[in-house]
Amino acid sequence: MSLPKINPTTTKAWNQLESHFNKIKEVRMQDLFIEDASRADFFTLEWQDFYLDYSKNRISKETVDLLLKLAEEVKLKEAIASQFTGERINQTEDRAVLHGALRDFDHMKPEVKEALGQMQDFSKTIINGSWKGYSGKEIKTIVNIGIGGSDLGPDMVTEALSYYKNHLNVQYISNVDGDHVNEVLKKLDRETTLFIIVSKTFTTQETLTNANTVRKWFLEHASETDIAKHFAAVSTNLEAVSGFGIATENIFPMWDWVGGRFSLWSAVGLSTCCAVGYDNFEQLLKGANEMDKHFKDTDFSENMPVILAMLSVWYNNFFKAETEAVIPYSQYLSKLVPYLQQAIMESNGKSVDRNEDPIDYETGTIVWGSTGTNAQHAFFQLLHQGTKIIPTDFIGFSESLYGNQDHQNKLMANFLAQTEALLQGTEGTEVATNFRKFQGNKPTNTLLIKKLTPHSLGSLIALYEHKLFVQGIVWNIFSYDQWGVELGKKIGLTTLEAIESDGNTKNASTNNLLKKISM
Ligand code: F6P
Repeated sequence: MSLPKINPTTTKAWNQLESHFNKIKEVRMQDLFIEDASRADFFTLEWQDFYLDYSKNRISKETVDLLLKLAEEVKLKEAIASQFTGERINQTEDRAVLHGALRDFDHMKPEVKEALGQMQDFSKTIINGSWKGYSGKEIKTIVNIGIGGSDLGPDMVTEALSYYKNHLNVQYISNVDGDHVNEVLKKLDRETTLFIIVSKTFTTQETLTNANTVRKWFLEHASETDIAKHFAAVSTNLEAVSGFGIATENIFPMWDWVGGRFSLWSAVGLSTCCAVGYDNFEQLLKGANEMDKHFKDTDFSENMPVILAMLSVWYNNFFKAETEAVIPYSQYLSKLVPYLQQAIMESNGKSVDRNEDPIDYETGTIVWGSTGTNAQHAFFQLLHQGTKIIPTDFIGFSESLYGNQDHQNKLMANFLAQTEALLQGTEGTEVATNFRKFQGNKPTNTLLIKKLTPHSLGSLIALYEHKLFVQGIVWNIFSYDQWGVELGKKIGLTTLEAIESDGNTKNASTNNLLKKISM
């Protein structure tokens, strides 16, 4: 069975949403709160340590009913079942999509269990110092070399879990920018550094170039046989990894049923596992698995990923919002947005539907943002007084990790005040000039989580994974391929040839630029 292929704009619910939108588009949330005293209680969801308040949205009960009807009509239920039962729903690559299986401890695939065991043993010996480098010293630094999903997920999680980190110094090299690689290398000690090369395909230009540069640097003072003590790899391409000279016991598996941007739960997360230890890594997986169960088994009206996804569809397709923002009120989550940008925009940036027809409605949301409170002093001006509608997710934690209550109170005060200001504007207060006027009526979701732990972080990431999947189903696109990155890669290769041979490309503008580069 393949995914349903329903053009959402042909459904009854879409039609009804269009007329409903015409009624609601001028309605102000300020009035909705006055009219209905139960609004704040009604539009909330509680699940484990998560509390989602979505009352500050430009919606009524009817909006939510219609959005959920749309989800039914596009056969979301069937699509969720297809994903979790391992049907080959990534049709254009003929693959199943089973990142959920990487964290399903109740029904764990033997190969996943084995890989987790391998990760546990490996990380343990690195952390406890029994793994020795070529000169007999313990490993102090781990460097992950990868890009895209082989970098963003592990980097984001390692940063997010800094509080739970051990003594290891964990770093990430992704860009093919040689200056950055040199900056990293100049601070490293060969004798105490271990490199993990992560590439699902092991063909990615950036990763292979960086890995070769690092290998050469390593061999300036060490021998080929020392590579086994300082290099590990994660890939599906075992042949290419062996060709690189990595010892068989240091090779960790990947599977074609795990997309790169959903792979942090696999051995791609090995650097994280070393940084925080296997037990914390397992908690991360368990938290994600709890969210999987919630997503699979909960009625749409109580289903957090479904509600968030459908609200986003509402703004994207009816209000024609151009972007949406994510603002975590935790500096630990400073890398969440770049991670989400790949997950969401690589998945849903599509303009051909599942019938292979061109699409005439909006798909993939543009996601951006940064941490609060910093963002308040940067781009919040535009959220408050700009002309654009930018639905924003506010993510906060009710407990801080170090327990500094003074800071935490101020952080939370800002977190709450901003959504209220965005909603309320200067309504009811005298303002001296129009310059000082805030219209309010700006939509936000507030996701309040008890505490940042490996478990809650796992659930949070999985929440966004499922949200983007729901949106892909509604938009009738294939979320799990990424053909859009191929053309640039291909032209990149011929452009490199042109640079190396003083040749030309097909385009006059590029040729002028090439001449400037070689001058
Ligand atoms: O070019 C995009 C992409 O294919 C991503 O989807 C992927 O995460 C990244 O490149 C890295 O790929 P690999 O792990 O095969 O090196």
